[in-house]
Amino acid sequence: MHFYVMTLFPEMVLEGLNTSILGRAAEKNIIAIDAVNIRDYTLDKHNKTDDYPYGGGAGMLMQAQPVYDCYKAIEEKIASNEKTRVLFMTPQGKTFTQQDAIELAGEENLIFLCGHYEGIDQRVLDAIVTDEYSIGDYVLTGGELPAMVMIDSISRMVPGVLGNSQSGENESFQNGLLEYPQYSRPEVWNGVQVPPILLSGDHAKVDAWRLEQSLERTREKRPDLYKAYVEAHPEVLHPKKKKRRKNS
Ligand code: ADE
Repeated sequence: MHFYVMTLFPEMVLEGLNTSILGRAAEKNIIAIDAVNIRDYTLDKHNKTDDYPYGGGAGMLMQAQPVYDCYKAIEEKIASNEKTRVLFMTPQGKTFTQQDAIELAGEENLIFLCGHYEGIDQRVLDAIVTDEYSIGDYVLTGGELPAMVMIDSISRMVPGVLGNSQSGENESFQNGLLEYPQYSRPEVWNGVQVPPILLSGDHAKVDAWRLEQSLERTREKRPDLYKAYVEAHPEVLHPKKKKRRKNS
């Protein structure tokens, strides 16, 4: 999967994403991240990419021309018959979720557009953007951090990026619940014992305990997710009782 990031700060994006798990995935060519400098495409003789907003108001706006030419150069490089989705990072966008990460991981190429200053000329947004995403209800100084957050989360969903193909499956949000608590050696640390059921070797019991823990955590910490889960899985509130044998 190939990510293209249109940005005025390419080093920030590359330094943030080329380490650890994503760095290894890039080395193995499972993912590729190109940070493309919008400034390289300006036709302004002083290399400017911003100007004052018509009608007045605070701050500067990113101009349409360098953004559009940068986009065209990326499209040419991708050379696909299908239009590549262009994601614009903005607090006005749809709030990004795990479901979006899963869905976007199915794309072969994605282009991220990172704004700065007070925004970008609306005409170029109307011309190229297919999706608008926010990473939460707060305002950041630019779109780079949101793009990095999304690329990290989407990449984890690309087959082969996580070492163990299972490790994405049981984690928080993936099935609509928060993840159960986990424990590693030693069996007793700081006077606290690992829950004995995890040492029992009974996989069915361990799975049932983990589901119970996930439900309990989700109910406490994220009642909104819990409500949605229980509506979709009413059986968790009324688990089937084991039939009792007669005479016992
Ligand atoms: N740009 C500035 N703030 C943002 C946010 N919260 N999400 C996405 N893009 C942004």
